[in-house]
Amino acid sequence: MSKIIAPSILSADFAHLGRDIEMINQSDAAWFHVDVMDGVFVPNISFGFPVMKSLKQHAQKTLDVHLMIVQPERYIQEFADAGADVLTVHLEASTHLHRTLQQIKAAGMKAGVALNPHTSIYALMDVLEDIDLVCLMSVNPGFGGQSFIPAVIEKIARIRDMLGGRDVDIEVDGGITPDTAPAVVKAGATALVAGSAVFKGGTVDSYRQNMQAIRDSVKDL
Ligand code: DX5
Ligand code: ZN
Repeated sequence: MSKIIAPSILSADFAHLGRDIEMINQSDAAWFHVDVMDGVFVPNISFGFPVMKSLKQHAQKTLDVHLMIVQPERYIQEFADAGADVLTVHLEASTHLHRTLQQIKAAGMKAGVALNPHTSIYALMDVLEDIDLVCLMSVNPGFGGQSFIPAVIEKIARIRDMLGGRDVDIEVDGGITPDTAPAVVKAGATALVAGSAVFKGGTVDSYRQNMQAIRDSVKDL
């Protein structure tokens, strides 16, 4: 099973963003996870298009953009123009989710849906053919560095069943560390988002060690 590691640049050092991007370029991480927060859907504001466009110029990997914003359908073309490869909207923020997913695909991106910890996977039952990725939040969205919510493990296994043989990534986001990653992968996750566990230490050497520790924790699974 492929295990994508997606470092979340929310935890990068924004004063040294070029350096941190280069470190990820050189690592075996397959994606950059890009957390966009509007201060309304979540109680935090992160960054927007100017940062994303700079990131796109230097990042040599897939840009996996996680929108924690209300009415995400208003900005689909802008995120495509800013370089998103995968665009994930929150189910809780999408009144017309089916239409939004079609619009994401029509704009040339892969379509993802994120679920808050309290949201049932069964709300996705009728859009299974329309999604490329499900992002299960293992923290309440809004901040890096929170503790992993173990109830997500069982949820991963259930959605893996529900997806049958469909080629849909199951991404888990929040509190991923070398301690929590193995159970997440064993349950069926294919993509692991990690912010603070990658960028702790603040030096390129520590980032490399942190990435290796996550990779090692799941390598035999
Ligand atoms: C949280 C974000 C996450 C965050 C993860 O709202 O969606 O992607 O950056 O950070 P860690 O890995 O520190 O929990
Ligand atoms: Zn995220």
